[in-house]
Amino acid sequence: MNLPFAEPFKIKVIEPIYRSSREERESWIKEARYNLFNLRSDRVFIDLLTDSGTGAMSQYQWSEIMLGDESYAGSLSYFKLKDVINNLLGMPYFLPSHQGRAAENVLFSAMIKEGDIVPGNSHFDTTKGHIEFRRAKAVDCTIDESFNTEIYHPFKGNVSLEKLEETYKKYPTEKIPLCVLTITCNTSGGQPVSMQNIKDVSALCKKYGIPLIFDSARFAENAYFIKTRESGYENKTIKEITKEMFSYADGATMSSKKDAIVNIGGFLACRDKELFQKASTYCIMFEGFVTYGGLAGRDLGALAQGLMEGTEFDYLEARVGQVAYLGEKLKSYGVPIQQPTGGHAVFVDAKKFLPNVPKEEYQAQTLAIELYLEGGVRGVEIGTILADRDPVSRENRYPALELLRLAIPRRVYTNNHMDYIAASLANVYERRDKINKGLKIAYEAPIMRHFTVELERV
Ligand code: F0G
Repeated sequence: MNLPFAEPFKIKVIEPIYRSSREERESWIKEARYNLFNLRSDRVFIDLLTDSGTGAMSQYQWSEIMLGDESYAGSLSYFKLKDVINNLLGMPYFLPSHQGRAAENVLFSAMIKEGDIVPGNSHFDTTKGHIEFRRAKAVDCTIDESFNTEIYHPFKGNVSLEKLEETYKKYPTEKIPLCVLTITCNTSGGQPVSMQNIKDVSALCKKYGIPLIFDSARFAENAYFIKTRESGYENKTIKEITKEMFSYADGATMSSKKDAIVNIGGFLACRDKELFQKASTYCIMFEGFVTYGGLAGRDLGALAQGLMEGTEFDYLEARVGQVAYLGEKLKSYGVPIQQPTGGHAVFVDAKKFLPNVPKEEYQAQTLAIELYLEGGVRGVEIGTILADRDPVSRENRYPALELLRLAIPRRVYTNNHMDYIAASLANVYERRDKINKGLKIAYEAPIMRHFTVELERV
């Protein structure tokens, strides 16, 4: 018979997790004001809040922690990372940063000014935040297929070239300092961008003289999808595909807490020396000297090693395969999810799951609470609470999709955990007809309310 798939690693260190009772969870979630961010982590059995900084490092990464060179300037760990970034991404200049949003802060300080327009494919929250904080505007040019969870499209992260060119024609070039391409696109469900689309977007950017910057938190997962879904790439290695992807970009920011499998870290990279020099000043101001950028030498070493491991096919097959495994299980129970599953998470369609809960009572958050109560599983709401209020009218903004994201940490859980998650959600699905009341807000902050919101049952 054909041998079944098995992970290309074994477990050396374990971290016990507590299996709580439903009664305990009832009282803890009430105490947390129905906000999963307020829970102590030992009150969570399986934690799918994020795949960011939650991965398990390898023995090689841990040995880099010991080898870390803690020199303030010229650390050898910095040069190790510089070599990896040069070789892997083909970018000559780079600056470390303490995480992804810090890289955005440094790069955008050098590039974006008030009144600018920044097109892209469903910009991530912090990216949009850094654009809007500078009184510039993010324009979403994602393809329409991305907003329909039921239809299959192999590259739902793609940019609509019509929407992008329309934006380029509408505004003067000097008002558009860059275009951000997020690979994979987190907001639309960890969905990849095809090589063809990257090429086309790059050509359009060149035609209008606009720099193309990748938000590359999950670039390796994107390369995996290109290899497995796009013709002409099946025989190329992930590292070859990565090199080609980045050859079309002028620069990149990266949250290394994702595909570089470290618990903290990030960087920006670019081709233009002048841009690098300008950004270096902001790096020194906000992050630290250019050879450490807010990180310890040991973090730089672990990051360099993580980039090499994160771009190995066998690892990615296990990683993306585990996300798909959970998606398939959920589908077999009839649970409505964004299809196909993305690289880092399964996105559950809460509008379809809980049609009896009015949208004013926060369907995705209600579902997140039900899943926690059922099995101690913590996901995250990507819906109305996250979308915040309109800054002018102060009315709730109701996004096209109301989603519960189940983000899978890298190399952390087994498929038994996936079975447990799927069964927990299936149990909630079975009693969905009886769930017809949601939540109401008791306290909210004026912006970024989802982190600190306090809720009550209706
Ligand atoms: N870009 C993307 C596509 C991201 O998903 C994130 C973080 C960032 C930038 C910012 O990076 O957190 O290192 O500052 N996403 C996390 C998540 C928080 O849960 O999806 P950071």
